[in-house]
Amino acid sequence: MMQAARKASRKLRRDFGELENLQVSKKGPADFVTTADMTAEKTIFQELSAARPGYGFLMEERGEVEGTDKSHRWIVDPLDGTTNFMHAVPHFAISIALERQGTIVAGLVFNPITDEMYVAERGQGAYLNERRMRVSARRELDRSLIATGLPFMGQDHHEAELAELSEVMAATAGVRRFGSAALDLAYVAAGRYDAYWEHALNSWDIAAGILLVREAGGFVTDLDGGEQFLKSGDILASNDGVQPKLLKLLKDARKKVS
Ligand code: IPD
Ligand code: CA
Ligand code: CA
Repeated sequence: MMQAARKASRKLRRDFGELENLQVSKKGPADFVTTADMTAEKTIFQELSAARPGYGFLMEERGEVEGTDKSHRWIVDPLDGTTNFMHAVPHFAISIALERQGTIVAGLVFNPITDEMYVAERGQGAYLNERRMRVSARRELDRSLIATGLPFMGQDHHEAELAELSEVMAATAGVRRFGSAALDLAYVAAGRYDAYWEHALNSWDIAAGILLVREAGGFVTDLDGGEQFLKSGDILASNDGVQPKLLKLLKDARKKVS
């Protein structure tokens, strides 16, 4: 997984460098980005297929590719944070998870710009560049730094998110919207953010990050406090102190607009 991510990241980094120049050109970077994530995905697909022949894939660009081995599947987002990438903002990542019989058993999130490699194996802990990660120990909302993702044009949940945001802003030390769900989860695992929530994500955005948080001693639920996050794409990740408090705050906020 690490080899595949590193290989794909070399091209992504080169493209990002060019894009910083393209940023000022008339044509704009949109087409360029589509090529960049397709190319990264192809590299990851080839590397993982060679390493583990027969495993299936769920990839953001290509979709589902069935393998002969029905018990294993890679879940891949070759470029999480496309909007950042497109605007030459250096905050994006490759996300790869391995699912075995429906359970995520390995996860990797790699930020090619900072060279931060976040990895976890089920039952083996989570690591950032070989250093063990732990979720934060903060328990009080008023000292907590919280990340979220805001819906944009054409997406639902604007009203619910605004209601949630307004309550969280008033109760915490600050809210961040950095634009990469995979890195948001990795930051929770690393103890940088105390919590992160977002609505309507896809499984390739969060599959790897979920394992990072859990293996770093954190809690992941959906926004009702249940386990349906991979299905609904609604997610809340935190430590055991902040999680119940934030879950209640978010639920109460949504009640006010429903
Ligand atoms: C997006 C990012 C972003 C989140 C969006 C995702 P993409 O993934 O994770 O933070 O808010 O909902 O779709 O499109 O950049 O791979
Ligand atoms: Ca994504
Ligand atoms: Ca993507």
